[in-house]
Amino acid sequence: MNIVNIADLRLAAKRRLPRVVFDYIDGGAEAEWTMRENVQAFEEVLFRPRSAVATPSCDLRTTVLGATIELPVILAPVGSSRMFYPRGEEVAARAAGKAGTIYTLSTLSGCAVRDVKRATMGPVWHQLYLVGGREVALGAIERAKECGCAALVVTIDTPVAGMRERDVRNGAKELIGGKPLAMLPYLAQFLARPRWLAAWLRDGGLMNFPNIVLKDGPMPYADVGAALEQSMVSWDDFKWIRRAWPGPIVVKGVHTADDARKSIDNGASAIVVSNHGGRQLDGVAATLHVLPEVLQVVRDQAEVLLDGGIRRGSDVVKALCLGARAVLIGRAYAYGLGAAGEAGVTRAIEILRADMVRTMKLLGCGRVGELGGSLISGTSGPCDDSVGHSD
Ligand code: FNR
Repeated sequence: MNIVNIADLRLAAKRRLPRVVFDYIDGGAEAEWTMRENVQAFEEVLFRPRSAVATPSCDLRTTVLGATIELPVILAPVGSSRMFYPRGEEVAARAAGKAGTIYTLSTLSGCAVRDVKRATMGPVWHQLYLVGGREVALGAIERAKECGCAALVVTIDTPVAGMRERDVRNGAKELIGGKPLAMLPYLAQFLARPRWLAAWLRDGGLMNFPNIVLKDGPMPYADVGAALEQSMVSWDDFKWIRRAWPGPIVVKGVHTADDARKSIDNGASAIVVSNHGGRQLDGVAATLHVLPEVLQVVRDQAEVLLDGGIRRGSDVVKALCLGARAVLIGRAYAYGLGAAGEAGVTRAIEILRADMVRTMKLLGCGRVGELGGSLISGTSGPCDDSVGHSD
């Protein structure tokens, strides 16, 4: 298959993965309205190019939390990546490192943080859910410290797992529940994908979560739904995390100016304007629409990142024009991982990189620092140029 864009990678993933795994990546909460809105919001932003400007080269480098990355695209935490491809988190981290960017490891990962850190030459951020309570989280924080993770990403939008209707229909819960009779009606999905099945079994099949170490060992897969319901992070917890982790903290899941302010007041170094890719509360606004409100209160007190709906390099350019410092991608690389492992993740990043270079040249911009509001107009008319990048 000729992979030209992220939509092609999505189709390739659909061909290789069992339905339950593909839909876990591809789906969102409830009516999937927010998930679609995230994508559509980018389509509503129009470019206003500066033509006849010589841009022989294009520098995509930027800095995030003091580290220089080769392009303003960071790999978001994507739980259970090891279900998509053998040693999935290590594979994705390696691809990120080779591309010169950051990989974020989900708490709900199948590979241990130390192995992920070893697999990549790039920085690793560790995402934290309080699964199992503070004591268990402290273990994860200590391991993240020992392994040299560059930042802790605290996700605040998951007091309970979102209602992902596709997962219910596909029997996701039954399939991880380990009860043979309950699993039976759903098994055909696996048999229809023998290549994936063989690779998955060779990799150990359904395992546990090595980064959630409970009293009697790593948390089993079957417990994930119940565990998430008891893992919400309050601002009190956040204060405790701030004391336990000496490095930078990124707050992920900010939808409002108010939460952005609380994040800063409680010591966040960066904020991710995120609605979890439309996988949690359906009916919240697209992240691109929320970004201006958040930027207004944050100003230069923290770095502002954005995720949700990024499928093209031009989307990254639009987010930067609107004032995000960098973006995180979830599905865009998860499709690549599901389709072809490291080569697929590398392809996803390459597609976005090539898109960005072309888009910026067409806009008459040679570096990300030049991206700003004068290069775009939204549905509400041209933006002013008050948001730009200092580097
Ligand atoms: C996620 N996301 C996520 N976020 C998080 O903080 N912890 C996690 O474990 C996960 N797991 C996860 C699994 C899958 C399959 C997806 C698709 C997403 C959310 C993710 O980090 C990011 O916010 C969204 O994916 C961004 O939206 P796009 O890029 O997928 O549209």
